[in-house]
Amino acid sequence: MWRKVLWVAMPLALASLAFTVYRCIPFTEEDLSSEERLWALYEQWRSHHTVSRDLDEKLRRFNVFKQNMKFIDEFNKKDEPYKLKLNGFADLTNQEFLDLYAGSKIEHHRIHRGEKPEGEFKHGHIDIYKLPASVDWRTQGAVTPVKDQRQCVAAVEGINQIVTRELISLSEQELVDCDTGNMGCNGGWMDKAFRFIKNAGGITTEDTYPYTAQQGPSCNASQPVVTIDGYEDVPSNNETALQQAVANQPVSVAIDASGRDFQFYSEGVFTGSCGTSSNHAVAVVGYGETKDGTKYWIVKNSWGTNWGEQGYIRMERGTPKKEGTCGIAMSPSYPIKTSPNPSNESAKDEL
Ligand SMILES: *[C@@H]1O[C@H](CO)[C@@H](O)[C@H](O)[C@H]1NC(C)=O
Ligand SMILES: *[C@@H]1O[C@H](CO)[C@@H](O)[C@H](O)[C@H]1NC(C)=O
Ligand SMILES: *[C@@H]1O[C@H](CO)[C@@H](O)[C@H](O)[C@H]1NC(C)=O
Repeated sequence: MWRKVLWVAMPLALASLAFTVYRCIPFTEEDLSSEERLWALYEQWRSHHTVSRDLDEKLRRFNVFKQNMKFIDEFNKKDEPYKLKLNGFADLTNQEFLDLYAGSKIEHHRIHRGEKPEGEFKHGHIDIYKLPASVDWRTQGAVTPVKDQRQCVAAVEGINQIVTRELISLSEQELVDCDTGNMGCNGGWMDKAFRFIKNAGGITTEDTYPYTAQQGPSCNASQPVVTIDGYEDVPSNNETALQQAVANQPVSVAIDASGRDFQFYSEGVFTGSCGTSSNHAVAVVGYGETKDGTKYWIVKNSWGTNWGEQGYIRMERGTPKKEGTCGIAMSPSYPIKTSPNPSNESAKDEL
């Protein structure tokens, strides 16, 4: 009997900033064969839900769940370089998923990037023939654990660790509450978030200003802990330029995360087709190549650790499409840090 384990999870709330908690429930091919078994599995999946729904809604959800499960099962029978799993988005239609999790509507680069950042592309001076074959900032201690929240701060956490050697988890909520009109990357640009952090004189820690999954009543401006001095854009649609940047620091990118394959991505190098309507902010924290020669970007997502590869996705690198997989090369940018953080005297000495 072919047996597999799928990750089954529960959306905590269908609010616009909802995030998920996961459980692993094993299921067999037989479960897919009968309505009763499917229903039992759905009940098991649902038992972790905190959202109660009426019977009509429950039936509707069951049908979505069933369709998703069959979609995943069919997909995984194919010989694709990546696999899908039944995760926390299992009873959401792709449209609902898009609205909730890929709804940033960061529109095309040329329309919205607009203002030219202060700096040029400084990493562009690096000899492309001397770039390392692989880079993984996680192994350098420059990446915080995967969060269960929208975030734009990963690249700032990265450059701060690279410059000060201190890994500090930063507050996305401060951006959500205080960078109004940008909602902490939701509906805006990473560039705008960097500009906000620079102009606000820094950003505080996650501990000081924790995530609340909704826009707070007001901005509770807190003591800035980590500062940046500006940001730069990586030239668009050039994966070599992106590689130069990522070799030096984690880089913010906007991707199209709306596809059904993306919704249920489990593992492997994602080669799926998706559009280029940037709608989700993530961070490229490295790159590499598989044994069989498939090149990929290591991308940190913010949908919890049970989505994808412990919260990460490897996305194909060097495709013939100049905008890259899911538009990953369309609008990368990264923060610049040359000044020490405000309150730490010992760090000042080191810089
Ligand atoms: C604002 O932040 C401070 C800590 O920086 C905290 O003590 C206070 O309770 C917060 N106020 C509100 C209204 O959240
Ligand atoms: C892409 O970026 C590389 C490295 O910065 C540069 O040498 C090359 O000219 C760029 N290609 C295009 C088409 O702009
Ligand atoms: C200050 O910086 C030093 C060196 O970068 C670090 O070891 C130390 O933990 C920091 N202290 C605080 C209070 O952040």
